[in-house]
Amino acid sequence: MANRAAGREVDQTEIKQLDTQYWVHPWEELETVGAQNRTIAGRGEGIYLYNESGEKLIDGPGGMWCAQIGYGRREMAEAIAEQVVKMPYNSPWSSTSKPAAVLAEKIAHLAPADLNHVFFTTGGSTAVDTALRFSQFYNNVLGRPQKKKIISRERAYHGSTYLAASCSGKERDKTFMDTDTENVHFLPSVNYYHFGEGLTEEAFCRAKVDDLEQKILQLGPDHVAAFIAEPVLASGGVIVPPPGYHRKCLEVCRKYDVLYISDEVVTGFGRLGHWFASKDVFDIEPDIITTAKGLTSGYLPLGACIISDRIFAQVSGERGRGVVFSNGYTYSGHPVSCAAALKNIEIFEREHILEHVRDVAPYFQKRIRELSAIPLVGEVRGVGLIGCVECVGDEPQESLAFHKAIGTRIDEHCQKLGLILRPLINMCVFSPPLIITRSQIDDMVGILDRGIRLTMKDIEREGIWKPGQDSAERAVS
Ligand SMILES: Cc1ncc(COP(=O)(O)O)c(C=O)c1O
Repeated sequence: MANRAAGREVDQTEIKQLDTQYWVHPWEELETVGAQNRTIAGRGEGIYLYNESGEKLIDGPGGMWCAQIGYGRREMAEAIAEQVVKMPYNSPWSSTSKPAAVLAEKIAHLAPADLNHVFFTTGGSTAVDTALRFSQFYNNVLGRPQKKKIISRERAYHGSTYLAASCSGKERDKTFMDTDTENVHFLPSVNYYHFGEGLTEEAFCRAKVDDLEQKILQLGPDHVAAFIAEPVLASGGVIVPPPGYHRKCLEVCRKYDVLYISDEVVTGFGRLGHWFASKDVFDIEPDIITTAKGLTSGYLPLGACIISDRIFAQVSGERGRGVVFSNGYTYSGHPVSCAAALKNIEIFEREHILEHVRDVAPYFQKRIRELSAIPLVGEVRGVGLIGCVECVGDEPQESLAFHKAIGTRIDEHCQKLGLILRPLINMCVFSPPLIITRSQIDDMVGILDRGIRLTMKDIEREGIWKPGQDSAERAVS
């Protein structure tokens, strides 16, 4: 027992060794366990993470799209500690608590329209799972048990619980995993860059909305319970749908009495400069919104599924006689997580973080778009403080291995230069802490610029790649 690591000093080599031997990470590549060069995160402050050697790194992805207010906030630690000492846990079945009740009201107030009923979960997957299960439950209560199918989209990511994972549209992720293929159906990608095929954006939008309507008609409106969509597909590569897309999809959903679930696990809590993007950015009032991540800025796990009055009223009160929504978690409404969320929101309000995002986002978008002059860059896209620099990708012969190799190289160069990137294959995705300043944006974009150019030199030297005609022209213009 004496030589176990817990309770004694461990150095970097030992941390790596323990990590390799014992910790199975998300999306672990099992053939090469331990070969990934994961940063050993030791400390965080503002937009920076410090590794165990004390090197300062800009956190480009903001944790996992969640570090909104930045790291090292003492008042967050104090709010959390205070609640731990007062009451670390209470059963959400048999009791309630001040932090959870107050937070539920606050979320209802921040959410658009009549989305006033908050179901607390442990994170994003469980928020989505709750929303999906609610849509099926809802139809059972209304006496339409056949109205169960869920429509999602290619490249969507909605989580890792069974139903949420079933609604996630990355085929590669399903190679070794089972999913519900009976009740979950997919629409083609809304990525204009890859699939626009000579259409105007307006025509592309019409085609994408039509995909939804045709799918509902094909499955039969009486069989479709819900449509789930991220306002901006995040893990799918920061895909911003064409203008008007969500609004028109909502109209289609209303026409066929299909619930619209807006998955705001990434876009909620400031990423696009608003508490929620559904109404303020995309002009829709969905039936259900799911959120997590930025709700606590990643300080503690928490998620929420927010249901509209309109929908809730149909299955509760007189109409819900004898009905139980049999869904919940030991940690639903965890008082410490809720206290953290309340403090997080207080910081947002006091520091005018939403206003700050709206102020710096155009600069961020302008700076990242300048990178499209680099021949290795295929497309740059984004909105608010979320962006993606996709490297190459327009040559049909490019393989997954090639894309991965490029992403890994860029990542390694950037890491050495002081930026954590963690690309999604060949896509350098940014979702920095919302407190980032203009000069920090310059630092971040400057490092990526150098990282991509160094990679380009590497692969040109090795004869793996050379700039194509289009890309070369883009570099000159
Ligand atoms: C849009 C979206 N929904 C749901 C999830 C799942 O959230 P979690 O990882 O907290 O379970 C994610 C995670 O990245 C996400 O991006």
